[in-house]
Amino acid sequence: VNHLLGIKYLKKEDIDLIFKTADHFKEVINRPIKKVPSLRDITIANLFFENSTRTRLSFELAEKRLSADVINFSAASSSVKKGETLIDTVNNILAMKVDMVVMRHPNPGAGIFLSKHVDASIINAGDGTHEHPTQALLDSYSIREKLGEVKGKKVLIVGDIKHSRVALSNIFALKMQGAEVKVCGPKTLIPKYIESLGVSVETNLVKALEWCDVANMLRVQNERMEISYFPTTREYTQQFGLNKQILDSLNKQIVVMHPGPINRGVEITSDVADSKQAIILDQVQNGVAVRMAVIYLLASKINR
Ligand code: CP
Repeated sequence: VNHLLGIKYLKKEDIDLIFKTADHFKEVINRPIKKVPSLRDITIANLFFENSTRTRLSFELAEKRLSADVINFSAASSSVKKGETLIDTVNNILAMKVDMVVMRHPNPGAGIFLSKHVDASIINAGDGTHEHPTQALLDSYSIREKLGEVKGKKVLIVGDIKHSRVALSNIFALKMQGAEVKVCGPKTLIPKYIESLGVSVETNLVKALEWCDVANMLRVQNERMEISYFPTTREYTQQFGLNKQILDSLNKQIVVMHPGPINRGVEITSDVADSKQAIILDQVQNGVAVRMAVIYLLASKINR
């Protein structure tokens, strides 16, 4: 398959190969000259129909470190605003001899739809509440780096599970690699189908934290909610926010993760986010090597 549309379309062997390739690129980007010439003949378009800091810049840097030509498209300043469709937009970009498209879109399934209608390799950089595959890959890669392996690790995902593409992609990736996964959050933000994915549920944060080796603290995605799913932000923080007092009261040193952007003081306090137990900036750093690996492996399947 010439696309990365979701973790659910991958196999464990695919993840192993991506990580092995990322190990090589991580070594490359720590050299004084951080580039390889591998993709000098490839052109990649980054299409962002929704805001992003980490994913957009990380993909752009990954592409440049592989020596690909790169064009960036932001829907907010494009002819999408004049009514141009997604397929027309992408076909016009592809007419400029573009080989690969990285797309973030607010609608679940947008990447899958695009892959059926255009002739290019598509990487999903987050499609609404559906999947964010490269985030889950860099998250697992960071757990593997910190704890040696993902298999057998107890990973807790806390917060707005219902609206989180990060949660869904992480669940698929972690289960595939043999981790145990638990989610914790307000009942209203945990979808009913979650247990059918082999995930357990705990609504008491301290109990859930006492169980885990790794806690991935998610942002409440107010932009995806038509209604409020809990009384107030302060009440959410009181029940599901991670602070230093809770962290220090646990009987072990857990690893703290966050995909960003952080709402400091809501799902996590600054003293936790900036503590030695947090690997939040390692996740960001690993994102470049993991995205290099994904792009490199997909490019190897393009006829050129
Ligand atoms: N983690 C993540 O997707 O962040 P951005 O929205 O800034 O890309």
